[in-house]
Amino acid sequence: MLTISGSAHTLKYWGKRDKDLNLPTNSSISVTLDQSDLRTLTTASCSSKFESDRLWINGTTYSLDTPRSKQVLADLRSLREEVEAKDSSLPKISHFPLHIVSENNFPTAAGLASSAAGFAALISAVANLYKLPTDASELSKIARKGSGSACRSLFGGYVAWEMGELENGEDSKAVLVADKKHWPDMKAAILVVSDMKKDVPSTSGMQLTVHTSDLFQYRITEVVPKRFIEMKDAILKKDFPKFAELTMKDSNSFHSVCLDSYPPIFYLNDTSKRIIKLINLLNESVGETVAAYTFDAGPNAVIYYEQKNEKYVLGLLHHFFNHLDGWSEEKFDSKTSSIPESYPL
Ligand code: ADP
Ligand code: DP6
Ligand code: CO
Repeated sequence: MLTISGSAHTLKYWGKRDKDLNLPTNSSISVTLDQSDLRTLTTASCSSKFESDRLWINGTTYSLDTPRSKQVLADLRSLREEVEAKDSSLPKISHFPLHIVSENNFPTAAGLASSAAGFAALISAVANLYKLPTDASELSKIARKGSGSACRSLFGGYVAWEMGELENGEDSKAVLVADKKHWPDMKAAILVVSDMKKDVPSTSGMQLTVHTSDLFQYRITEVVPKRFIEMKDAILKKDFPKFAELTMKDSNSFHSVCLDSYPPIFYLNDTSKRIIKLINLLNESVGETVAAYTFDAGPNAVIYYEQKNEKYVLGLLHHFFNHLDGWSEEKFDSKTSSIPESYPL
């Protein structure tokens, strides 16, 4: 049984230079969240008695007969063959059909990166079953072929996916920037705005952006390379205002290239936009950046803050946006664009 935590992407991966190998057009950074927030739990078993490879996610059958899943399983099987060749006492199981049972404790395909935690958990569970050498950067290359975002999820903490230069993708892998313990004060709140399956899957959305957005070229050449260095630096220095500014700007930049795609892709909805406004108002009211929002390919928000500011951030979010009631429009004075005086900051 293997558990992988969910992740939020602070410097977005959006665009492939090679669709089959899942090689990205830019390097990116993610934060792997605590297990209590979002997590995927996966078990893998194999037997000569099984008829075929099968995958269940939250009780529903999912096909493993897709080019990406087939590639991932072929890579894992070939590593197992290497292990078996080196140690003849090991059972020859690489050709046995696999049964993979998985549970996401959060919505699947709704922009909360289920493909990241999902493929990372699948690969870790099979690697465990096959007793493969578990160098996370090496396994990340297999995870990348399943879903790009999955390559970062094999690590906890702050993880960079270096885009690499080689055509065969051997240098396009995840590396640890800092482990979770590095910044114990860092917290993330997940706001599930909608658990509906997104209408434009990440894979097709990014292809559309690469082929149709003019802004996209500017993003990958002028914006992200600099931001990648600055973001790593802000994490290493535990500079929250800088980390927050870069995270929010990159979320905005990613959603801008989505809008600049033709036809445009809309992942944010009205509630997402209100959350953005609220976080900006909070930072203005406090007089420093105490919270940052980021949105992946869906309307759901991840809010970063430091533990010492939890009372401001969670208090405010709870006041305006709570899971049961949804957004309270009447509490938000959109005419004056301010946080009502009744709310104590
Ligand atoms: P998301 O925004 O949730 O990442 P995607 O469209 O990128 O949405 O990916 C959804 C796909 O990820 C699913 O259709 C499935 O193929 C894969 N996936 C999700 N969860 C799991 C899991 N637990 N195990 C294996 N694959 C998973
Ligand atoms: C918006 O990894 O889901 O979450 O590689 O085609 O499976 P595929 O796409 P996926 O893309 C996720 C993009 C993102 C941003 C990010 O992960 O950095
Ligand atoms: Co995904």
